[in-house]
Amino acid sequence: MRHTRPDFPDGFLFGAATSSYQIEGHGVGGAGRTQWDDFAATPGNVVRFEDGARACDHYHRYAEDLDLVAAAGFDCYRFSLSWARVMPEGRGPVNAEGLDFYDRLTDAMLERGIKPCATLYHWELPSPLLDSGGWRNRDIAEWFADYTEVVMSRIGDRMFSVAPINEPWCVAWLSHFEGHHAPGVRDIRAAARAMHHVLLAHGRAIETMRGLGMGNLGGVFNHEWTDPADDSPEARSAADRYDAIYNRWFLGGVFKGEYPTLALEGLEPHLPTGWQDDFSTIQAPLDWCGLNYYTRKLIAPAGQPWPNYRDVEGPLPKTFMDWEIYPDGLYNFLTRAAREYTGDLPLFVTENGMASPDVLKGTSVEDPDRTAYLDAHLASAKRAIAEGVPLNGYFIWSLLDNYEWALGYEKRFGLVHVDFDTLVRTPKASYHALAHALKS
Ligand code: FCB
Repeated sequence: MRHTRPDFPDGFLFGAATSSYQIEGHGVGGAGRTQWDDFAATPGNVVRFEDGARACDHYHRYAEDLDLVAAAGFDCYRFSLSWARVMPEGRGPVNAEGLDFYDRLTDAMLERGIKPCATLYHWELPSPLLDSGGWRNRDIAEWFADYTEVVMSRIGDRMFSVAPINEPWCVAWLSHFEGHHAPGVRDIRAAARAMHHVLLAHGRAIETMRGLGMGNLGGVFNHEWTDPADDSPEARSAADRYDAIYNRWFLGGVFKGEYPTLALEGLEPHLPTGWQDDFSTIQAPLDWCGLNYYTRKLIAPAGQPWPNYRDVEGPLPKTFMDWEIYPDGLYNFLTRAAREYTGDLPLFVTENGMASPDVLKGTSVEDPDRTAYLDAHLASAKRAIAEGVPLNGYFIWSLLDNYEWALGYEKRFGLVHVDFDTLVRTPKASYHALAHALKS
């Protein structure tokens, strides 16, 4: 790698990220059913109908996986907790085995000198909560606060940092308007409600953790840079609408107590009554803000009702996800977030990385594209820091090849290769390059 640790300020944190459903193996340990189990079991939703029942079997192999985190020289490990593992019904009874697992996992990080960075929700909603409306139902904010209290009363004393919800845009828009993720809904009213309730739940979880005396609490928001597909004013305004819904809704709600006009144009009629009164909760003060960043989109009008946009194929080199590689987007977001939303608040890149069709040859996996991708994005991060952006850390998605949601196990994002038959882990060349960079 071109970048090494000394290229970044003292105390800058490097981490690897994963999420519970994508790696743990949801079929063991008394976990309850989730919306992803149901979504995957419904033909047409997930490549080869794959689900997270076994995944990487991290539930049993977590010690080996944390050894890999430590051996790479990472400071932090960003992991998530499965609501349904802790509370199989989403509400009420607690699965002691599940809570014990996260307790052991926490201690195993600390024993290795790794800072635990938790996310409370990375998409696997307990199915019974979906029966009650899931993210469409305002009560989810209280269900989520209760779950937060249960988990953090047990492990909150040992967390380095916590964020309530991974990528609210995916929770709300991708899953309730586009229908690409569980629960696979395509409905503007459901989407509007989810867009609001996800932030309300975020705020209630922050309030709950403050009540427990916890600090270093933040939010993790995904961002996709948006450029118009051509010079027309129509493409410009389609791109601005995309930006408002994808990027500005969430930072606007949390850091300014307002939603962008361009998004309200379509969503306001479908928002729950009294939504304006919830901003005091949504704006519960944070200690840091996390940005997940992978790519940009070129946007054109779609000749449809609101939001009237579609993405067009761009000219840049693409990853195995067909996502354009556009490191400038990371710089753009870091500087824009600090300038327009977060000011002096510490920022973290909480996810960045790429999928490639990695092949194990003997005992090695050559993935030079991944190393180049990480280097290019670290250069963008450095450029932002040099301009005064208070960026305090960078997390790579992902430690392991894992369950890439609707795309199943084919899209490999890991620094470590996983053979999904034998579950053998093999660090890729990018892992070794990074370990070298972090130790120098
Ligand atoms: C992010 C998700 C993560 C993974 C990566 C590729 O949107 O947070 O779970 O799917 O994309």
